[in-house]
Amino acid sequence: MNRFTHLIDLDDLPISYIEKIVSLGADIAENTAKYSEYCKDKVLATLFYEPSTRTQMSFQTAMLRLGGTLIGFDNPETSSVAKGENLKDTTKVVSSYADIMVMRNPVEGSAKAAALSSDCPIINAGDGGHLHPTQTLTDLLTIKLEKGQLENLTIGVCGDLKYGRTTHSLCKTLSKFRGNKFVFISAPELSMPDYIKDIVNANGCEFREIFSLEDALPELDILYMTRIQRERFPVGFEAARFILTAENLTLMKPDAIILHPLPRVDEIEIAVDDDPRAKYFLQAKYGVYVRMALIIEILKNEYPTKLLSYECSDRVCANEKCVTAKEKYLPQSFSRKGDTFVCDYCEAVL
Ligand code: NCD
Repeated sequence: MNRFTHLIDLDDLPISYIEKIVSLGADIAENTAKYSEYCKDKVLATLFYEPSTRTQMSFQTAMLRLGGTLIGFDNPETSSVAKGENLKDTTKVVSSYADIMVMRNPVEGSAKAAALSSDCPIINAGDGGHLHPTQTLTDLLTIKLEKGQLENLTIGVCGDLKYGRTTHSLCKTLSKFRGNKFVFISAPELSMPDYIKDIVNANGCEFREIFSLEDALPELDILYMTRIQRERFPVGFEAARFILTAENLTLMKPDAIILHPLPRVDEIEIAVDDDPRAKYFLQAKYGVYVRMALIIEILKNEYPTKLLSYECSDRVCANEKCVTAKEKYLPQSFSRKGDTFVCDYCEAVL
């Protein structure tokens, strides 16, 4: 344990390291061919237990452009997972075949659980509705290249802020940069979870919550749209959604940018795509460069990741979506945060 630099949560890494990855991503975007031999003889495993287009293919493209090779699955039903194999055993074995592993899984905290038994670095490509740190790296590179700065920005985050893991990782990380302000735009039943608001607050950033997209638009430097995560809704749950129309664009600053992790499901009108402020397809392209940078840096193994603190281990996480509820062999572990404890896998408060 603790021998590898994993990317489970960007909070595990110093901000200087994150900035280094973004800068390297910018250089790779300009000089891609220069890096074409970097991962010669290296194998990347992509284990995708959930659907993906961009994250999976951009990681695969990144590794191929670095001269490496690929193994993995994009449908666990074609692997021994379908026979009932647990996460520990799948991870243990695949990590002995690969030099670096990218995992997406519908269960919260699964990347951390996988890292506990992995014999290579693990990259979290989305763990349920919890986090999606490599999308955040993609977002940071896009903001850096298209706005020229990561500080002093007003960022509107709109859509499903409750189940949308991209928004959680993004707000956690962008709140570490000085002078950023957040406007959370969602239906009340899909509002940003308290634990993310607490982190934004603790990092010294202002935020407000509103329920009208039009009202928020004039002040924004960045509008980050997201889809409704219907697959994560409890049965019978419905929620209102917001749609960015071409007409709305007149309300926005001329130099604002519009981002979306994609896939879009009607929350941005197709007519918006032709506006120069729409950067979401470019954002998806930048994802390859920043993931190339991430693979290069992770393989240097400079920051062995601390996985569990065991500050409290005699209680059970009550989050039914936590990996500890599914993979019963995992040790319970909570870390002290202020005057409470949070689960080391899924960040649920004890
Ligand atoms: C996001 C995801 O999977 O969380 N997509 C992505 O990785 N680009 C967003 C989403 O599914 O809505």
